[in-house]
Amino acid sequence: MIKKCLFPAAGYGTRFLPATKATPKEMLPILTKPLIQYGVEEAVLAGINTIAVVSGRGKRAIEDHFDISYELEHQIKGGSKEVLLDEIRALITKCTFSYTRQVEMKGLGHAILTGETLIGNEPFAVVLADDLCHNDDKGVLSQMIDVYEKYQCSVVAIEEVPMDQTNKYGVIAGKLVDGTDDTYRITDMVEKPDPKDAPSNLAIIGRYILTPDIFDILRETKAGKGGEIQITDALLEQAKQGKVIAFKFKGKRFDCGSVDGFVEATNWFYDRMKP
Ligand code: G1P
Repeated sequence: MIKKCLFPAAGYGTRFLPATKATPKEMLPILTKPLIQYGVEEAVLAGINTIAVVSGRGKRAIEDHFDISYELEHQIKGGSKEVLLDEIRALITKCTFSYTRQVEMKGLGHAILTGETLIGNEPFAVVLADDLCHNDDKGVLSQMIDVYEKYQCSVVAIEEVPMDQTNKYGVIAGKLVDGTDDTYRITDMVEKPDPKDAPSNLAIIGRYILTPDIFDILRETKAGKGGEIQITDALLEQAKQGKVIAFKFKGKRFDCGSVDGFVEATNWFYDRMKP
């Protein structure tokens, strides 16, 4: 059972400056909902209700968002606007939220290791809120939990990207698991390779299920690409033991860490909303 989901949310969001100068990038809205709320909703749909956030300076708005605002509640009680708080209220009722701060920005691997204190010794999910995923039938995390239950090892979500974009992602090499067309056992993985060095065009997107031995591996992982401690490098250690599955999920993914992806997501959700 996966009960906890970690949200690394300490990054500066420099691609969205000046919007992210005083606002966490995870709080940027697609329509009326902040990115991180979409992520938490996906986790809840997957049966997870313990939310762990690796936060940082200037990120307090995230805590306030997942809390009751008594003045606001009082103000809109009984009015037509009250319904606008239904979804967030439901999340606050269903979930517990805990926070720890990453005091130095040393990469995604380091952020995940910082979350150990909130996760403990159990398998857990990781959601990068700026990768916004949607699937009508079954959310991406729910699909990944099914895969985890089958293989009992770490799972990463992958998607095919144009070859000239491999330098934006962790990229895998793997062998299809017999009898499947969407499940690979990873043999190699590289963080943000140049297209000429990329082992494939199968890119890791911001959804992971990790077994807790990843923390000990991360403690030993040296700084890699960009001088940062990379989760990709730590996962490669598990992959060498045959213990990482890459899963081609069903559904859509928007790279809301880029302006193009953010606008695409906004338009897509807006079109769906229309009668
Ligand atoms: C991180 C990971 C990368 C992964 C990506 C998915 O990179 O390091 O392996 O492919 O998330 O969004 P970032 O986008 O934080 O630079």
